[in-house]
Amino acid sequence: MWDTFFSVVRFRAIETDPVARRLAGAASVEDLRRIAKRRLPRGVFDYIDGGAEDERTLAANSADFSSIEFCPNVLRDVSSIDTTTTLFGREISMPLMLSPTGFGRIAHSDGELAVARAARRAEIPYSLSTMATRSIEEVADVAPDGDHWFQVYTWKDRGLVTEMVQRAAQSGYRGLWLTVDTALLGRRERDVRRGFTIPPKIGPGTIIDGIVHPAWTWDFIRHEPIVFANVVGLADEDGSDPGSLAEHMMRQFDQALSWDDVDWLRSIWDGPVVLKGIQTVEDARRAADLGVDGVALSNHGGRQLDDAPTPISLVEPVAQAVGDQMTVICDGGIRRGSDIAKALALGADVCSIGRPYLYGLGAAGERGVDHVIEHLRDGLVRTMALCGRTEIAALDRSLVRWRSEPR
Ligand SMILES: Cc1cc2nc3c(=O)[nH]c(=O)nc-3n(C[C@H](O)[C@H](O)[C@H](O)COP(=O)(O)O)c2cc1C
Repeated sequence: MWDTFFSVVRFRAIETDPVARRLAGAASVEDLRRIAKRRLPRGVFDYIDGGAEDERTLAANSADFSSIEFCPNVLRDVSSIDTTTTLFGREISMPLMLSPTGFGRIAHSDGELAVARAARRAEIPYSLSTMATRSIEEVADVAPDGDHWFQVYTWKDRGLVTEMVQRAAQSGYRGLWLTVDTALLGRRERDVRRGFTIPPKIGPGTIIDGIVHPAWTWDFIRHEPIVFANVVGLADEDGSDPGSLAEHMMRQFDQALSWDDVDWLRSIWDGPVVLKGIQTVEDARRAADLGVDGVALSNHGGRQLDDAPTPISLVEPVAQAVGDQMTVICDGGIRRGSDIAKALALGADVCSIGRPYLYGLGAAGERGVDHVIEHLRDGLVRTMALCGRTEIAALDRSLVRWRSEPR
């Protein structure tokens, strides 16, 4: 009897490592999001997950990918798939970047250091945010020869920007992303409702939230306070009061930002410059005319202007207009490897993600970030194989069609 039983049944080995157990159940980015939601205080999760106003753009960024279908070719030898590609003259292991996200240590105490190490292991670029909670130098140190980029805002205090840009150059960063969609902050109503601020202000609600999320709270209180690591010591504020440093930084967003500032930034930086937050063909053309090296089609992950166009809907018109002059990056809404294949087929050179790796970080720290990247890589490889494409250059326009035209 037992012979018959064991001929059809195998027992799974018990996984003693709790992080591995958690990740084993995460089959998709959405699963990681759910785990992060369970583990993070509600205010923290909503800060990461939320978008501006009615969150229509946030939802559309991902939903628009489902309006595209594949035209797969079969009976092609797909026994070997190559996802490597070249970005600004450097080979990367797949057409994916990690976008800049501020306040990384709110998701996990390792914050940006974990993200930088994971990006280096995966051989993909990572753009560190000006608003990061680990410094330019710390990130360069933990991931030597990583493909580091630095995201800048043109603060009112240009001296501050110049100093940060010089530090990025000294630390071997390859290029800059200039974020151009943040003349002022979008209205993120989940944060308003929860009274969430940066840094978080402690009130009765925060304390209860902390008590019911003990793993996060324990991680948070055991580590040094979270500060804007790139700015401490540079701004008038010395960082000893994180609250007043944060307020100082928020006052630095420059509503007078203009195309002249793009020229100015290029005059103080030798390497490539990418404009992050381009949302029309007209502005992409203007960037190309100025000799900018790349555009990240982005609406800040739906966190700025609600009802902004989705990045994927802009890829084809922008690539047709300027794709032969500059690198086109699709930033926002990517949740699967198949989404990367779709964006590339429409003309993007590379895709970039924000929330997916933050969900990974919140769900399982550095290993969670690895998990997200490898999940997307696996999805891309599978999509390419099922579509009869063995290399990135073969992801061309013949691969996709819109179920309904972009709105
Ligand atoms: C929590 C969070 C913080 C962010 N912080 C920044 C930032 O400091 N600078 C910036 O240029 N973009 C920032 N972004 C936008 C991302 O760089 C990226 O454009 C966006 O997350 C892409 O959309 P996705 O989350 O759907 O992948 C942030 C996004 C999130 C979710």
